[in-house]
Amino acid sequence: MCTIVHISGRRLLERAEALAVHSELAGGLTRTSLSREYRGAADLVLEWMREAGMAARLDAIGNVLGRYEASTPGAPCLLLGSHLDTVRNAGKYDGMLGVLSGIECARALNAAGKRLPFALEVVGFCDEEGVRFGATLLGSRAVAGTFDPALLEAKDSAGVTLAQALREFGLDPARVGEAARKRAEVLAYAELHIEQGPVLEAEALAVGVVTAINGFTRMAVTLEGSAGHAGTVPMNLRRDALAAAAECALAVERIGSSEPGLVATVGRMEVLPGAINVVPGEARFTIDVRAPADAQRLRAVQSIRAGIAAICARRNVAARIEELQQQGVAACAPWLVEQMAAALQAEGLRDFRLPSGAGHDGQAIQAIAGIGMLFIRCEKGISHNPAEAITAADAEAGARVLLRFIEAFEPKR
Ligand code: GLV
Ligand code: MN
Ligand code: MN
Repeated sequence: MCTIVHISGRRLLERAEALAVHSELAGGLTRTSLSREYRGAADLVLEWMREAGMAARLDAIGNVLGRYEASTPGAPCLLLGSHLDTVRNAGKYDGMLGVLSGIECARALNAAGKRLPFALEVVGFCDEEGVRFGATLLGSRAVAGTFDPALLEAKDSAGVTLAQALREFGLDPARVGEAARKRAEVLAYAELHIEQGPVLEAEALAVGVVTAINGFTRMAVTLEGSAGHAGTVPMNLRRDALAAAAECALAVERIGSSEPGLVATVGRMEVLPGAINVVPGEARFTIDVRAPADAQRLRAVQSIRAGIAAICARRNVAARIEELQQQGVAACAPWLVEQMAAALQAEGLRDFRLPSGAGHDGQAIQAIAGIGMLFIRCEKGISHNPAEAITAADAEAGARVLLRFIEAFEPKR
């Protein structure tokens, strides 16, 4: 009946490698939601779930879902998981490790012939990163029942709407609502994820317990100046949209650096018409602002808006700022934090707690269940980068803590 001996860090890393083969980027990893490559990864995950003794399927938005049945069939579940989509030129573990660890725990229970009083469900969310359609947490919002149907009209860079992508994937956009789970079906949500920061490494720890996930605001900005001949328009008569955007990006950096905890990023910029001999007439860029306190983030967003307005007024450039998405701080449920800390100690590890600067699916799932997270050390804290690296020993330590947490799990009364 010993379950823990069945956990293998090496298998977790091998499976992360196997998933990384399903990539839109030759020689690197990019996998956006509902793509052909996403289907390839999903099929592999479905196969591993079934091999682990789970009933597995795709849900109505394309999340992969596996269920390891409870001792009493039909009982509510402890939901584990993370996402299967990636950023562009991504690492192999952001998201995937949480899905693989959940399957590893179900596999260990199955190998030991052990059933729990609750079901174990593992989900691989189809879109957490928001790379393809610009809006994040699509899969987890559908499960939480907070998916906004207006997003079905959101387009990817090729002009394909989310509704079309769902149809091409074999799903019916009118039925996305069927992915929603009821509160009574989900006892809690627990996600294992790489830290994506340097704190655990600095503490010489393999695993930590997350206390809260920072909130975010995402914006799209369009600046309109005037395109003109690069050889003939005098410098003092220009309305250069790129020069204005560059100054705005520096203002975003300055505001993001102005207070501890706050971060602000211009991650993408396009310049039109984009020719060597044309003064840029239009510039489009994105802004991502995060903070551990909502009031701090909202203040920063106000300063950024005012900064952009002042820069553009001075340069006689028109600015349009669209707020794409915002999400408040998501606190991990204290009762789950305590149970995870106890699991850490049961593994002989130090009880160490830290906040998450990165966003996670729990931000959406908190609408229907308490959320808890475990972080695993990653090398130099590097993530959203192909250099993302973890060790098999750390992956194994994390999955062992997760399994101990699962086996001792007490639902909130
Ligand atoms: C997801 O990784 C995010 O924090 O943007
Ligand atoms: Mn990510
Ligand atoms: Mn992630």
